[in-house]
Amino acid sequence: MSGIVVVGSQWGDEGKGKVVDVFSAKADYVVRYQGGANAGHTLIVDGKKTVLHLVPSGILHSDTICIIGPGVVLDIETIFDEIKALKESGELKDSNQLLISELCTVIMPYHKQLDAAREQSAGHEKIGTTGKGIGPAYEDRASRRAILFGDLFYENTLRKKVEHSLKEKNLLFEKCYGLEPINIEQTLAEFKNLGQLLKPYRCKDTSLVISKALNAGKKVLFEGAQGSLLDLLHGTYPYVTSSSTIAGSACVGAAVGPGKIDKVIGITKAYTTRVGSGPFPTELKTEVGQKLRDIGQEYGATTGRERRCGWIDLVALKYAIRINGITNISLMKIDVLSGFDEIKICTKYKINGELHEDYPIAVDELNEAEPIYESMPGWSEDLTKLQSFDDVPEACKKYIQFLQDEIETPIDIVSVGPGREQTLWLKPLF
Ligand code: GDP
Ligand code: IMO
Ligand code: MG
Repeated sequence: MSGIVVVGSQWGDEGKGKVVDVFSAKADYVVRYQGGANAGHTLIVDGKKTVLHLVPSGILHSDTICIIGPGVVLDIETIFDEIKALKESGELKDSNQLLISELCTVIMPYHKQLDAAREQSAGHEKIGTTGKGIGPAYEDRASRRAILFGDLFYENTLRKKVEHSLKEKNLLFEKCYGLEPINIEQTLAEFKNLGQLLKPYRCKDTSLVISKALNAGKKVLFEGAQGSLLDLLHGTYPYVTSSSTIAGSACVGAAVGPGKIDKVIGITKAYTTRVGSGPFPTELKTEVGQKLRDIGQEYGATTGRERRCGWIDLVALKYAIRINGITNISLMKIDVLSGFDEIKICTKYKINGELHEDYPIAVDELNEAEPIYESMPGWSEDLTKLQSFDDVPEACKKYIQFLQDEIETPIDIVSVGPGREQTLWLKPLF
């Protein structure tokens, strides 16, 4: 038994892709279990950048098998483009390196159109989605009208399902949003064709593959997308994504029993970022926030949008540790904090004059939350070339120790740059 979940502990973009790539050197399988092409996971190996939206971040290791599980909403064009690029660069040599579950929900053009139309009509109230059709696709899954990846190979089923779905969707487009209806024949032809091109990657039962692997003592990583505070049920609702992003979702989205999970690794930025709308108590709309954005290069890997930036928020992080059952932390982007005279850490919120140590969950309260900070002296040394944690400057070690004491969870990995090799292990995790 060696199932390890890698999960974002903030609002996404913590560096999950980098960590999964690093861990994949020792993993036999990497499984994506939720979300879709709203994710943007960046890997930097020997200076070469790869951004993955759907293909699991183990793909640069030729001995690691990557699986896209049933909980994922599959953007057929995006996955096709990713596979094409990976084949061209020689990283994907064999179709057996990537298995896509037949049970994945397919994102259709009408999902993207509906996502965009709703955001546009919401004006200032918009969620700030990635526009990838994620919400409408998960809605169709819940209302039992989704097109599954396996349906693309059965022409009659595909036609029947698309007709059924478009009947309602086209009414919405015309009557609610004043848009042209979607052409059914064009949609069908496009999807049948793309389906054929993806046929070599089709897998009937990915959960069987995972189960056999775990029973044989193989290491299986479950790669989360988004972050805990974007969880559909437990995040800053409605400013969330439309899937469950917490660690338990790995069991549901990949069909693996909770007893098969040994560790839950929380990926945590040394500060906080958020893309899109919604509460963010430690957000800095100041020069300090801009400095974090500039040094940390905080621009979205999927949409290129500016990420909102602020100090680390331990009230929110402790909540994430609790709802995920995080056993170990990988602390990311600590190098970005070099050069700040003072570093702040939010340990409590003040809401309507009262101090709160526990995360309040309700958006109205979070909007009122004033962060209460502890302050620590910064450091000026460049950390990006360090080879060992022993060489980390004392002030930085104290910052990490302070975080660890507050969250009562071991920080076992410290990342000092985007590259695969810029990773300091405090304790071996495997
Ligand atoms: P993900 O969505 O969680 O996989 O994260 P993203 O890839 O969207 O965003 C993380 C960004 O930070 C990417 O550009 C990474 O290359 C970069 N990154 C990851 N770890 C580090 C680090 O330790 N230091 C720095 N400076 N950049 C990092
Ligand atoms: P990774 O895996 C950061 C955010 C969007 C928006 C909200 C809903 O790279 O960490 P959606 O398109 O999902 O309906 O948008 O969720 N969001 C992310 N923010 N990182 C992500 O993924 C995200 N995926 C969605 O910005 O606020
Ligand atoms: Mg990202």
